[in-house]
Amino acid sequence: MAEMLVKENSVTARVRALDPMIDLETEIARLRRTRNAVILAHYYQDGEIQDLADFVGDSLDLSRRAAETKADVIVFCGVKFMAEVAKILSPDRTVLLPDMDAGCSLETSCPPEAFRAWRERHPGHISLTYINCSAEVKALSDIIVTSSNAEAIIRQIPADQKILFAPDRHLGAYLARKTGRDLVLWPGTCIVHEQFSERELVRLRAQHPGAKLAAHPECPEPILAMADHIGSTSSLIEYVTKAPDEEFIIATEPHIIHQMQKRVPHKRFIAAPGMDESCSCSNCPFMALNTMEKLYLCLRDTMPQITMPEELRRAALKPLQRMLEMSPRPASKIAGAA
Ligand code: 13P
Ligand code: SF4
Repeated sequence: MAEMLVKENSVTARVRALDPMIDLETEIARLRRTRNAVILAHYYQDGEIQDLADFVGDSLDLSRRAAETKADVIVFCGVKFMAEVAKILSPDRTVLLPDMDAGCSLETSCPPEAFRAWRERHPGHISLTYINCSAEVKALSDIIVTSSNAEAIIRQIPADQKILFAPDRHLGAYLARKTGRDLVLWPGTCIVHEQFSERELVRLRAQHPGAKLAAHPECPEPILAMADHIGSTSSLIEYVTKAPDEEFIIATEPHIIHQMQKRVPHKRFIAAPGMDESCSCSNCPFMALNTMEKLYLCLRDTMPQITMPEELRRAALKPLQRMLEMSPRPASKIAGAA
């Protein structure tokens, strides 16, 4: 706890000490060149960060980019498990995360020791693990999946092979329904997707009868049951871009709407309502920790860096490599430029 306070204070203190007149965009661009850095960003980042990133994508796109980059430094504007994946796949690169406290409720729900014990209680099962977990949990898993490749990977596993799925129970239940497989589920959830309100959504749809509902599979089943399209963040963007409809309700983290609006500015997007109107609970609080100031500071000071013991990295690499081998290649790239 004391260590945590020191770290928080040091990030906060460094932000506070910044010259308020500094032109962050220009400085970030200059440092990116001098450090030979690439900036990778997830669709849940602030629009300003998405706009200056070299590449914006979903978890799978970002993993592939991190594995292929020739840059010396990867600045990961996302959450910690995503930056860890970049380090696992590209160990020779310096991987920076603007705020080391950018975690994920799914990762927290699945501590490695409890996960190990769960696996031991299920002999004969393989573990398919959602990428939203720690490097330690990856190291204890057989195959990593993301929301964009999980279904295709499950379909490659022999029908008589028993499967554990962790840590997102909503994504797991959705995959079980889709594939007809009997998955044993870890009871984790995403705090962002869990808080969408079925009641408010029904009300909103009545007010916008022509709007299509696009939902991320981390949403609970009653929300998914109403959806016109379910998919990863990239898949949701592709859907709203290609569909002939003009209006969409988006049941995922609302910063994705920035990217949708850029691609199809004439269409209308409405963020799905949460259970508590008084808070912006559908904003991911972990993604929000990364700011332009912290992005500038991490490039300037080349910290905080992702590091991990080599033995752990190698163990976590195996199930990630299996994921990349088993993932279908997208026919066309829809994620951002660079
Ligand atoms: P995607 O892989 O679909 O981008 O999802 C990542 C995530 O954290 C969703 O909450
Ligand atoms: Fe984790 Fe949910 Fe945030 Fe995605 S939206 S990073 S699953 S807490």
